[in-house]
Amino acid sequence: MTESIVSASYLFAGLLFILSIRGLASPETARRGNFFGFMGTMIAIAATLYSPVTNEYLWVFLAILLGAIVGIFSALKVKMTSLPQMIALLNGTGSLVSVLIALAEIRNGSIAYFELIMGLVIGAIAFTGSLVAFSKLQGLWFAKRRGFFMQKTVNLALILGMLFLGIAFYQTQNMNYFYALAGIALVFGITAVAPIGGADMPVVISLLNSYSGWALVFVGFSLSNVLLIIVGSMVGASGLILSYIMSKAMNRSLRNILLGGFGKRAVTSQQDDEEKYAKTGSPEDAAFIMKNASKVIIVPGYGMAVSQAQHIVESLSKLLEKNGVEVKFAIHPVAGRMPGHMNVLLAEANVPYEKVFELEEINREFSTADVAYVIGANDVTNPVAKTDSNSPIFGMPVLDVEKAKTVFFVKRSLNSGYSGVDNPLFYHENTSMLYGDAKKVTEQVVAALEKA
Ligand code: TAP
Repeated sequence: MTESIVSASYLFAGLLFILSIRGLASPETARRGNFFGFMGTMIAIAATLYSPVTNEYLWVFLAILLGAIVGIFSALKVKMTSLPQMIALLNGTGSLVSVLIALAEIRNGSIAYFELIMGLVIGAIAFTGSLVAFSKLQGLWFAKRRGFFMQKTVNLALILGMLFLGIAFYQTQNMNYFYALAGIALVFGITAVAPIGGADMPVVISLLNSYSGWALVFVGFSLSNVLLIIVGSMVGASGLILSYIMSKAMNRSLRNILLGGFGKRAVTSQQDDEEKYAKTGSPEDAAFIMKNASKVIIVPGYGMAVSQAQHIVESLSKLLEKNGVEVKFAIHPVAGRMPGHMNVLLAEANVPYEKVFELEEINREFSTADVAYVIGANDVTNPVAKTDSNSPIFGMPVLDVEKAKTVFFVKRSLNSGYSGVDNPLFYHENTSMLYGDAKKVTEQVVAALEKA
């Protein structure tokens, strides 16, 4: 009886998680999605406590309390621009859980050797890999180094070592092989992620997320736990799909990512010596031109997130609309520092969804726009991606902002963006630079519009 209640609750929780992912797919239903996820988690915890797996309730509640404190503290404290790091840490802890379960189960005499070996290996790789990814994104000094001596040979040797130890343990059940396997998998997580960096990190994090899911699936099979299998497959599959979408948006091949060691940080690719001149505009000029425009497309990027300019951008769009200007927002799939970053910010500022367009939907419209107001975006507009086959961002689809009659770039300097590649658009004749913090400059534009 207890068993069927627990199984039914797990299935129900699994259903709620599926509804949760569905809800999270769009900003309109994200709150509901989040709530479904919360309910699913609560039901899963309650069912697990009800099941006869443990009677050490004090430890369980202490662990839940500790996790809740860390979770609430991070949710309140961590800035949205640091979410990728946080996701890396969450991946890491999830993967560590798989490793610990695999160790505990083997020591408790489980005979699901294959599942536990897989759970251990994938979990251990994802655990240390995620820690390295976190350190890189956080800019910690020891994570800055990329390649190391004979890295491909070392990685190949580690893979062969894992294969050997896995088979040896499967055949002999000698625990020393199991511990050695765990050790090598932990080292491989470090050596596989260490050479990767720059704009490829989010793809790697998403892949590690996927790995942590597959580790859970194997552990779930070994425990015959239906919920772990459902949740693990969802995490595994969604991580893979997201990695694919991101690598496509950045024009990287997933195969290269899996093989590791690509994604060297780009350096300025344009090395021409000719003197370049970027026109400086003023907020008043921008206000005047936009007020007299019939169509303005706003292109937000990472800088808008840093300066938290989304609310003033929303005021700008409303004001322009009041003046009869058509305003649309163009979102690049990798604008900002995480998938959906700009959508979340614009939704937070109550920008109506029907005004927000994805790259493929809006790219054709730049040629009919009077103004492209590029706020804190850089790489996602860089035409070098279309023209310079030597550029590290070559092939990445970009927003064709240069086709608008006038382009305003709101940023603090002529510095490059995340990829480190110079943007020749700054020097185009129809471009004006509005130097300064995205929020401050847009406030000045709004003030000028209000006065006009
Ligand atoms: P970036 O190319 O990184 O450019 C952002 C620009 O914002 C910078 O050039 C910076 O110029 C400016 N900026 C920074 N702080 C600012 C502030 N307070 N006010 C005004 N401007 C500010 O951003 P993007 O166009 O959004 O492109 C995203 C890049 O990140 C892509 O290369 C992408 O591959 C990579 N990436 C994406 C993701 C995902 S999944 N979205 C994750 C990681 C990396 P100044 O210094 O001159 O102000």
